[in-house]
Amino acid sequence: MDEALEQDLLLRKKALAYRSLPSTREGLIDFCSNDYLGLARSSNQFQPAQPVFHGATGSRLISGNSALAESLEKELADFHRAEAALLFTSGYTANIGLLSCVASRGDTIIYDELAHASLRDGIRLSHARHFAFRHNDLAHLQEKLRQATGRVFIVVESLYSMDGDLAPLSELAVLAQAHDAALIVDEAHATGVYGAKGEGRVVALGLEEQVWARIHTFGKALGGHGAVVVGSKILTEYLINFARSFIYTTAMPDAQLEYIRHAYRLMQNSDRRYRLLENIQHFCVRLKMDFNDKVTLNKSPIQVLQVTGNEGVRLLSESLGQAGFWVKPILHPTVPKGRERIRICLHSFNDQKEIDSLLNKIIKIDDHVTTA
Ligand SMILES: Cc1ncc(COP(=O)(O)O)c(C=O)c1O
Repeated sequence: MDEALEQDLLLRKKALAYRSLPSTREGLIDFCSNDYLGLARSSNQFQPAQPVFHGATGSRLISGNSALAESLEKELADFHRAEAALLFTSGYTANIGLLSCVASRGDTIIYDELAHASLRDGIRLSHARHFAFRHNDLAHLQEKLRQATGRVFIVVESLYSMDGDLAPLSELAVLAQAHDAALIVDEAHATGVYGAKGEGRVVALGLEEQVWARIHTFGKALGGHGAVVVGSKILTEYLINFARSFIYTTAMPDAQLEYIRHAYRLMQNSDRRYRLLENIQHFCVRLKMDFNDKVTLNKSPIQVLQVTGNEGVRLLSESLGQAGFWVKPILHPTVPKGRERIRICLHSFNDQKEIDSLLNKIIKIDDHVTTA
């Protein structure tokens, strides 16, 4: 069996798609993690009411429910301006649970081609027909909507993790309404970043009524782990009954629930968000001056610098690593050939000197940076 598996691994290596766990990047300046507000670094401020780790002892439907979980769900529903909320142990399980159960045979799910793997896995587990539409292309989505049958769902991310660009949520909401489709928005990367208190883009745009379901994850700006689906009371009741990744798994332990509550309070501190937004602005101004047409200038913490070819991306990220900067090379086949890139994640805790020295270093090795 191992030999057979090894053959598959060799094929991956040949295709330059082999994955291995990276070495720890201690000491490097973080331009890679999703810890946008630095909350994962503030864990020393976390003093749980229950310092002893208690397991949940079972799934929520058996022995794992608690007043703490229910009150947290109420708090999160209010915070994200929804009728109800249901906790999941991760964003991955929230997405596969939700997408696999809400649509049935004869229904249609239409999703952005860049939707996260967890959304696509959930869609594959459902019995519904499904189609992808070209990234952020509303005309193409409309074409697909015309072919839809049964109950119709549109699935998008609010901020895309590989490209760092934003979904046109207001226009999507109008289209969804016109076609009587339910709009599902994954706010994983937008939670904590957008909205006056970090509620996400749906609340920032006042679209709570038009978006049928939202997924907020705690592993990114909240610096923790887990997720919540927010929507109507009927939706959360339905998920408790039909979402297999909710039903058949042990609930989160109290310490984790306490951390989530604590992180939501820290997240609302506008200083961190303000510093992050300032860093995004600073980075974009510098990038525009220095690279002009090679960058996307996203109004988001995820910035992308196009570098053609896996080799160029690797060399650039290695040189940056040697110079003390931790960035993520995104290679083909994760992205199409010719669209390889360096992904730079900005944080509230990066200071502008660090951003300047990162960009100065990139300019120095500009030979590798080719026009996309
Ligand atoms: C858009 C999106 N949705 C869902 C997930 C999964 O969330 P989690 O890491 O909590 O499982 C991720 C994580 O990478 C993501 O980027």
